[in-house]
Amino acid sequence: MFNAKEFVENSLKDIQKIAGDRKVISACSGGVDSTVATYLVHKAVGERLVAVFINDGLRREGEAEFVVQTLKKLNIKTKYIDAKTEFFAVFKGKTDAEEKRKAFRDKFYKTLGKAAKEEQIEFIVQGTIKADVIETVKGIKSQHNVLEQIGINPESYGYKILEPLQDLFKPEVRKVARELGLPKEISERMPFPGPALSLRVLGEVTPEKIAVVRKATEIVEEETKKLGTFQNFAVLHNDKATGIKKGERVYGNIITVRIVDSTDAVTAKARKVPYEILSRISERITEEIPSVVRCLYDITDKPPSTIEFE
Ligand code: XMP
Repeated sequence: MFNAKEFVENSLKDIQKIAGDRKVISACSGGVDSTVATYLVHKAVGERLVAVFINDGLRREGEAEFVVQTLKKLNIKTKYIDAKTEFFAVFKGKTDAEEKRKAFRDKFYKTLGKAAKEEQIEFIVQGTIKADVIETVKGIKSQHNVLEQIGINPESYGYKILEPLQDLFKPEVRKVARELGLPKEISERMPFPGPALSLRVLGEVTPEKIAVVRKATEIVEEETKKLGTFQNFAVLHNDKATGIKKGERVYGNIITVRIVDSTDAVTAKARKVPYEILSRISERITEEIPSVVRCLYDITDKPPSTIEFE
């Protein structure tokens, strides 16, 4: 049986031993994994930790403000980096899912490496958990925050890596979050992938497409808040379909809604969501986002699908 209290005690000692009196930087996206990792290290090394929030332009509505505010409330020294333009530039012309992930990963680590250099920092903290490592090693996907296991030496980016949660699965991370007294919005937060909305725009990622999927995501999250499901989101397709807008036949965007139950993200079941909720989502998405003419619901479990589309 996992004991969160013991885990925290041992973790603090381990982190202190590894970091010594050196400075540490933590990439915090606001998700439960990276926030727990950041807070643990903050507890272990205090002022010697700088948390970094990289705004890559791919976050959900209001997310940047939420994360920066949360870190502030936790008294963690925080640095905000606006890298939106640079991230969109690396996606230009890339349509392959893994190529997009690699482009994200490379930009992410270079941005972090630059910040670490400016702050003269040797270690970076990551919220990598066991499922990330297992699935990447198995070849299911190359999770952006798994480096050494796929043969990338993090020192090539200029730092060493500290991953205090790498032996835990998501439910255990949530227990640690509760043990640490983190707010509910963090401990119970819905998982959201590191490369964010870039995984939910099929094909090339552009600011315009991200704006469409961001709005659709907001609608899906608002309408499904009470379901208590593991992940609820929208995906923008790369192809178009016919529809009718303002009485005219048009070719417009297609959005798929995905709502799944899972405990550890390794397997998942599509939720049988009440039809009225799905209808309301479809009505809102096609009314509030002018370019969308069609809204689909994904009924596939994992396996054979994955949770994300890319
Ligand atoms: P899949 O799509 O592989 O996703 O069934 C399993 C879980 O991992 C999340 N996910 C990612 N998280 N970087 C991340 O930080 C990634 O590249 C990535 N790909 C998928 C996904 O949202 C789900 O919770």
